[in-house]
Amino acid sequence: MNFKNLSIKRRIVYTVEGFADRLFTPKYNPFYYLGTICAFLLVLIAISGLYLFFFYRTSSPYETMQSITVNQWYLGGIMRSIHRYASDGLIVFLILHLLREFLLGRYRHWRWVSWVSGNALLLTSILVGIIGYFLVWDERAQMIAIKTAHLLDDIPVFIEPPPRTFLSIATMSKMLFFVLLLAHVMISMLGMGILTGIHVSRNARPSVKPPKAIAVTVLVILILISLITPATNALPVSMTKVPVDVPFDWFYLFIYPLASILPKGMFWAVAVGGTIILFIAPWIGRPKRQPTAQISPEKCVGCEQCHKDCPYEAIKMVPRKDGRPYLFQAEVISGSCASCGTCVGACGSNAPSLPNRTMEQIEEEITKLLYLSRKENGRASIVGLVCEKSVNQREFIDIKNSSIKGMPNVSVVTFPCAGMINHSVIEHAIESGADGVFVAGCQTGECSFREGSKWAQARL
Ligand code: HEM
Ligand code: SF4
Ligand code: SF4
Repeated sequence: MNFKNLSIKRRIVYTVEGFADRLFTPKYNPFYYLGTICAFLLVLIAISGLYLFFFYRTSSPYETMQSITVNQWYLGGIMRSIHRYASDGLIVFLILHLLREFLLGRYRHWRWVSWVSGNALLLTSILVGIIGYFLVWDERAQMIAIKTAHLLDDIPVFIEPPPRTFLSIATMSKMLFFVLLLAHVMISMLGMGILTGIHVSRNARPSVKPPKAIAVTVLVILILISLITPATNALPVSMTKVPVDVPFDWFYLFIYPLASILPKGMFWAVAVGGTIILFIAPWIGRPKRQPTAQISPEKCVGCEQCHKDCPYEAIKMVPRKDGRPYLFQAEVISGSCASCGTCVGACGSNAPSLPNRTMEQIEEEITKLLYLSRKENGRASIVGLVCEKSVNQREFIDIKNSSIKGMPNVSVVTFPCAGMINHSVIEHAIESGADGVFVAGCQTGECSFREGSKWAQARL
């Protein structure tokens, strides 16, 4: 067997997560719930935003925001602060979520839909946030207007230089704020709602809710920050002076200092080039895809179990054409298949198989290892059925005899995912003379194929 070493990128993630496991316990480790925390923050942003929407007036943006903050500090003020800090938190958790998926290599092949829509969500969040700051129409908004106008000035499509059209006080009309408010609400509610739907569309049973304890903790932290440092307006706009020293939000407005520091050409190269690279990352240096699952129609009895268990909805049930007395047969949608083997573990008829890791190969391996172990150690052996991603194989496994280092009588057989392991493999090991069998998979929330550990536990 070809045992692999963990890549440095994976080691970084596992080290950080291991530390967080000890701090929070694996059940409440926030690193396993980054996507769901983003979804929860989006809900908080939507609820608090809806509250602000009822009080905001496009005819007097500064005054209405000031009134919500000061006159209604106990509710409106807290809502505004939650809106602001949940938005900041969203950027932090989005970046962590992006980094985790990237470092774990979970963005290629069938995951490209999640990756590309995720990046669209990130860019949309930043755009919506900048518009949000503009809506307050204070000195910070004025600074955004001036700097955005200068940025747009670099783009040759504008006939009249945008600084002039954008910045005259006459154009800061009720109409402009109405359009911006509409954009802020529509892009965030409708656009991001659709993008989030697309984002998890390839996943069966997408888990979008974080555990209650994590959600409550996030909410309490946001309320505490809101009480300690409430979000407030900057000074009102004065068209006769250029704003200096305005309060700054690095989470959303980082682009402006970047534009000031970097030479024009370099700024646009970094911004446009970086965005393009981010979007096309799944296709850059793409490793060869593992062969996808196959189903032998003659063994399939159409029970639908693989169709239900597949974590990526990669199995469809199609009408039977071969005259056998079953209504349907399973068929793999190869574009969506992750080659995880969960369908193999689900099937009682041995119909699905992974071409490069068949059950026949695995059973043969178990028989051989038990035979060799008995021959060398004079006694039967324990067999470990181990998910290949759950351990650093080179560190724990003695490659020479496929046993755990320092335990020559504990043989190890690896699977692409714990979801592939079922009772028939265990029965085979026992029938072949194993003293005992153990199964090892990833922590819940850590599984590369989303639900492998869950299925292994449920089936055994
Ligand atoms: C508001 C923004 C986002 C939300 C609410 C969100 C939410 C989620 C959730 C809930 C999942 C897990 C679904 C499941 O396994 O059941 C997920 C998966 C994923 N997310 Fe995000 N996400 C967001 C942004 C991003 C960003 C910015 C990226 C990176 C560019 C990203 C990349 C991914 C990838 C690649 C997966 C697939 C993992 C897999 O299939 O195993 N997401 N996201
Ligand atoms: S679990 Fe097996 S028998 Fe049932 S539908 Fe899937 S392939 Fe066919
Ligand atoms: S190998 Fe995994 S992703 Fe592919 S069809 Fe089977 S269960 Fe679905």
